[in-house]
Amino acid sequence: MRLCGWMDGWTDAPHNLERYTTWPMFARDIGPDSASALSTQNLYGVHPFYMCIEAEGQAHGVFILNSNAQEVETGPGPHLVYRTIGGRLDMAFFPGPTPEEVINQYLQHIGFPFLPAYWALGYQLCRWGYGSLDAMKTVISRNQALGIPLDVPYADIDYMNHYEDFTEGGNWTGFPAYTKQLHDQGLHLIVIFDPAVEVDYSSFQRALNADASFIEWARDDQVPHDIQDQYPMAKNTKIMLGNVWPDRNTAFPDFLDPRNNTDDWWAGEFAQFHNTLPFDGMWIDMNEPSNFDTGTYSSLEQRLANAKLSCPISGADSSLDVPPYPTQAVFQRDGEYLFSKTLCMLGKTAHRTRNFYDTKSLYGWSEARATYKAIPQVTGKRSAVISRSTFPSSGRYGGHWLGDNTARWEDLQTSVIGVMEFNMFGLPYVGSDICGFNGPSNEELCLRWHQFGAFSPFSRDHNSEGLPDQDPAVWPSVANAAKIALTFRYYYLPLLYSLHYNAARYGHTVIRPLFFEFPGDNEALEISEQFLWGSALMIAPALYPGQTTVHAYFPYATWYSLQPETYGQQMFSGFNDVKAPLSSLTPVFVRGGFILPRQAANTTTTASRLNPFEVLITIKKDAVSSGELYYDAGDDIVPNDNIEQHPRVHWQFSFSTSLVGGVFSGNCETCSTAVKPPTLDTIEILGYQSTPNFTQFKLDGSTVNLDMSKTFYDASLQRVVISSKNLISLLALKKKFTLSFSNNYY
Ligand code: NOJ
Repeated sequence: MRLCGWMDGWTDAPHNLERYTTWPMFARDIGPDSASALSTQNLYGVHPFYMCIEAEGQAHGVFILNSNAQEVETGPGPHLVYRTIGGRLDMAFFPGPTPEEVINQYLQHIGFPFLPAYWALGYQLCRWGYGSLDAMKTVISRNQALGIPLDVPYADIDYMNHYEDFTEGGNWTGFPAYTKQLHDQGLHLIVIFDPAVEVDYSSFQRALNADASFIEWARDDQVPHDIQDQYPMAKNTKIMLGNVWPDRNTAFPDFLDPRNNTDDWWAGEFAQFHNTLPFDGMWIDMNEPSNFDTGTYSSLEQRLANAKLSCPISGADSSLDVPPYPTQAVFQRDGEYLFSKTLCMLGKTAHRTRNFYDTKSLYGWSEARATYKAIPQVTGKRSAVISRSTFPSSGRYGGHWLGDNTARWEDLQTSVIGVMEFNMFGLPYVGSDICGFNGPSNEELCLRWHQFGAFSPFSRDHNSEGLPDQDPAVWPSVANAAKIALTFRYYYLPLLYSLHYNAARYGHTVIRPLFFEFPGDNEALEISEQFLWGSALMIAPALYPGQTTVHAYFPYATWYSLQPETYGQQMFSGFNDVKAPLSSLTPVFVRGGFILPRQAANTTTTASRLNPFEVLITIKKDAVSSGELYYDAGDDIVPNDNIEQHPRVHWQFSFSTSLVGGVFSGNCETCSTAVKPPTLDTIEILGYQSTPNFTQFKLDGSTVNLDMSKTFYDASLQRVVISSKNLISLLALKKKFTLSFSNNYY
């Protein structure tokens, strides 16, 4: 029996059920610890869901909807013990029987993922500690100068004035004009927002004016007036004050306020700030929520000295902060409490109706929901929200980065697992900080991380404060490898976007472990360093120092190489050692029987999505190949998340072949005339065994003139490429097409 899932931070793939292991679940500001043999610490998010795979690949899933501190113990038998210290037991079972069906059933229960804006699938470049706009400009432009595809520059907290949300700092004069410049180049800007706001500036005053809620003390006599009364705006309130990035104390918005006052104020702040700085996406951080220095009541002097939040550890008020069994989330860390690094459990949320003890792990989820809801009023366009803390159904509102990893090979290796895991949790828009966040990166690691990260749905290089730069332009070899990998990504973005459409519309995964497609294959069950885009594209990245080949597993199927050195060659099933050069494309392969849409790459998605479409058809013996293409305006809002009503074209393609020739057809059942996709100009077929008669191609019965400078048959590779300008219209009016051809001698 195999078990997958359970929590944010799974480094055990699949879970080892021979051993007793306890996994605490309680949202926590802590980065993954990939270097230890087994880390079970609770990370940023909570996902009380597991999938089990039994003999012959039969899978089922179990979800327990509970937001209290909880834990699960797995062990021999196999057995599983679930403990929670609050809430109710609301369980759902998903019968599968395939792994993909389990996830599909789970996502029908918790909600399908949002559809990211097309530009958000582009490469993103970030760092904490640019220090100034000029430094940011230098980094962005040196990567652009090298022709590295790039869509989304970022600004971390250093763009703010003293870390106050919705402000700009002195070293960032000209940021709005620079943003306009980025927009003119077809780029988009994402900036960070932290939930906690300082309690002595205009955003906080507007919140009070709007009667927005903040997390509060339960009673006035619990309020530390010695601190509170220093702030005229917070004086006479029960708002629980903490310390995060800003210079002075902060308050934590209560996004669970059912009256929507908090959400409305939050949206208003975004909208007002957007009038100054026209950002395109929101990065929401520190939302476990994180508080830096939560202490206990016992040392009053210390509390006064640094205006520290202190929680009761004795007396009647301590029952929630020091419960009889605080779970492994506390036992794992000496001298800690449930409130360590966050707010006091006795705090009140949901407009004074709930205890923070019950809702803490929902904080990031509720902030993501409020942020997502704000988008129509802020940018008026489809966007992307990236949240650090997540909970089941967070994927409806945004994506996730895997948090503060470290520039270590182990962290690169566990990134593959993290990306697959969050696809199972309904957050397919996910990726790790490329090159590693903590600690200095190095050339080889950063290169390999780009080769892998180019295949994460969320693809962003990010670095911590005070560390040497690690953008691709720092090392010529990294720039070269990043350019190759990202150019391939951009080429196949129509496929990635179509997969995201299938996630948003039908609840499918985007990134899949091999066993999702080959559940009966015992070998595939063990593979945690390869993955698939959908059903067809398999990536086998190099993840170890000094590695020159990848010992890659090819489940029983037809596979073709897409690496330039072996392009079009068929791979044997089973294990193959495939070359993984530092100076070329990541090992990537395509499965026979599919049709993949693609579009020539430019250095922005804005430009590349206007290029003519192509399809790559891969032949599987005696089978019809199939595939699809989803296309829409790319950044228009999906009203009420109802993709069914959203203007789009969604083509289904099929290709069949016989000794006589081939027939490629398309069918567009859900096409809107409001969407104007480019034409489909190029068709490539891998595994085609005869020479097509290029003078006899017929589109809906009429002969087609092919561009013979781009059309050929390579008999040794069994590869056909045909091309003609404006070959096939994909406009809605067409609805159907058939392109047929015969082979020479027929
Ligand atoms: C913590 C986040 O995880 C990290 O990505 C970010 O750079 C820092 N906060 C500073 O905002």
